[in-house]
Amino acid sequence: MATALCPGSFDPVTNGHLDIIERTSRHFSDVVVAVIRNPQKAQSLFSLHERQEMLVEVTSHLENVRIEFFKGLMVEFAREHGAEAIVKGLRAVSDFDYELQMAQMNQQLSGIDTFFISTTPQYSFLSSSLVREVARFGGDVSSMVPPMVAARLRERFRDAETADGAGG
Ligand code: PNS
Repeated sequence: MATALCPGSFDPVTNGHLDIIERTSRHFSDVVVAVIRNPQKAQSLFSLHERQEMLVEVTSHLENVRIEFFKGLMVEFAREHGAEAIVKGLRAVSDFDYELQMAQMNQQLSGIDTFFISTTPQYSFLSSSLVREVARFGGDVSSMVPPMVAARLRERFRDAETADGAGG
């Protein structure tokens, strides 16, 4: 039994992410969830620390899971934490090209293998970016994210609206 790394932006964590983390925790003795800045995503809604905080709360029932955040190369983080495997969820064929390329790059850089878990079909349409967009315009995301995340989204967009209003 080995340590697995579940990396991602988690901006914010969705029920789809949680499903992958829970399933990974059944197959590995330890799971490190790494909140990592994706350099290809310029703007984030929540800070790395806020994303970590939400993940800590929604995974508190999983004893072998811990949450860290990191700025830099994922394989460096994996090495530092003694992770023998990277685990990622695949929602659809459209995820595959990018994920395969990253897996091969990470393998080349460090020798660490990536394992893919197929997303539970009920979550295959879910992404943090769509959740943010729906929440931004007041849509109901309560079936897509844990209740505390839905509350944090409401709070964040209410604050943004207030700030917009104040600016005229
Ligand atoms: O949830 P995401 O945005 O699909 O996760 C992508 C993430 C953060 C895992 C990826 O961008 C990443 O590993 N970033 C850290 C920098 C790095 O190691 N880049 C090389 C990737 S091959």
